[in-house]
Amino acid sequence: MTDEEMLYDDVHIALLEDIWGEGFLSPGGPDEVARVLEGLDLSGKIVLDIGCGSGAIAVLLARDYGAGSVVGIDVEDDVCNAAARLAEKEGVADRVSIRKVTPGPLDFADQSFDVAFSKDSIIHIPDKEALSADVFRILVPGGWFAASDWLIAHDGEPSPDMQAYIAAEALEFAMSSPGRYQRALEQAGFEHVMLRNRNTWYRDVAQGELAMLTGPERTRFERDHGADFIAETVETWTKMVRVLESGEHCPHHLRGQRPL
Ligand SMILES: C[S@@+](CC[C@H](N)C(=O)[O-])C[C@H]1O[C@@H](n2cnc3c(N)ncnc32)[C@H](O)[C@@H]1O
Repeated sequence: MTDEEMLYDDVHIALLEDIWGEGFLSPGGPDEVARVLEGLDLSGKIVLDIGCGSGAIAVLLARDYGAGSVVGIDVEDDVCNAAARLAEKEGVADRVSIRKVTPGPLDFADQSFDVAFSKDSIIHIPDKEALSADVFRILVPGGWFAASDWLIAHDGEPSPDMQAYIAAEALEFAMSSPGRYQRALEQAGFEHVMLRNRNTWYRDVAQGELAMLTGPERTRFERDHGADFIAETVETWTKMVRVLESGEHCPHHLRGQRPL
C-alpha cells in the first residue's frame, strides 16, 4: 500500500487516539480488551495481534497480561511506526515486535502462536473464511482465537442507512454477519466458538463520543485537528450512531479454540 492509499495515516491516528486514548484506534480501551480476553491466561504465551494499529493493545498484552512475546502485524506504515515507538516508550520493545505485512495469507509457520488476538481490524479483511482457516493453522493445538470485530446484523444488502455510514467511513469496510463468522470459524475447525453482541455497549459509548465531538469540547477538537476534519467526523459519527441504534451495526466479541 502506498502512502497515498493509507487509510490510517498520522492525521487519522491523531484524531482517533484523541477520542479513544493513546495507541488505540478502536473504542473501549483496556477495559474492553479485558472483556475480549476474559478467562484466558496469556502469561508466557506467544501472541499474535492482527491489525495492531498504533500499538496500545500489543503493549498491554506484554506489560499487563505477561505475554512472553507479542507480534503485532499491520498493513500501514504510519500505524506500524507509531506502534513500534509506543512499545519502545513503554519499555516492552524486547517482547513486542511490530511487522508491516501485505494483505493476504499470514506469513507465519504452522502452529507458531498460542493466542491470536485482534481488535476491530478483521473488518478490513473481506475473506473471513480464509482468515479463519489461516488463524487456525498458525495456532498450536489448544490455542485460542480471541477477537473483537465490527459486524453487520444480517447477510445480504446493507440498509440505505448502513450504506451511507459505510460510505462515510471511507475505510474499505468488509462487514459480515454473525452467522457467517460462526460458520467460518466452525468450518475452519474451531471448537467452543462463541460470539457476543456488543451493540448496546458501543451504541451508548458512541452516543457519548458524538456528544463530546459536538459539545463544548468541539472548539478544542477543531483547533487540534481542523474544523473541516471535525465536521466530516461528526457526520460519520452521526451516521454510525443511527445504525448502532437500529442494531444493524453490531460489534461482536469472537472466540474459538483449536482442539487439543
Ligand atoms: C480500527 S483499526 C484497529 C487497530 C487496533 N487493533 C486497535 O484496536 O487499536 C484497524 C487496523 O487494521 C489494519 N488493517 C487493515 N487491513 C489489514 C490486514 N489485511 N491485515 C492486518 N491489519 C490490517 C489497519 O491498518 C488498522 O491499523
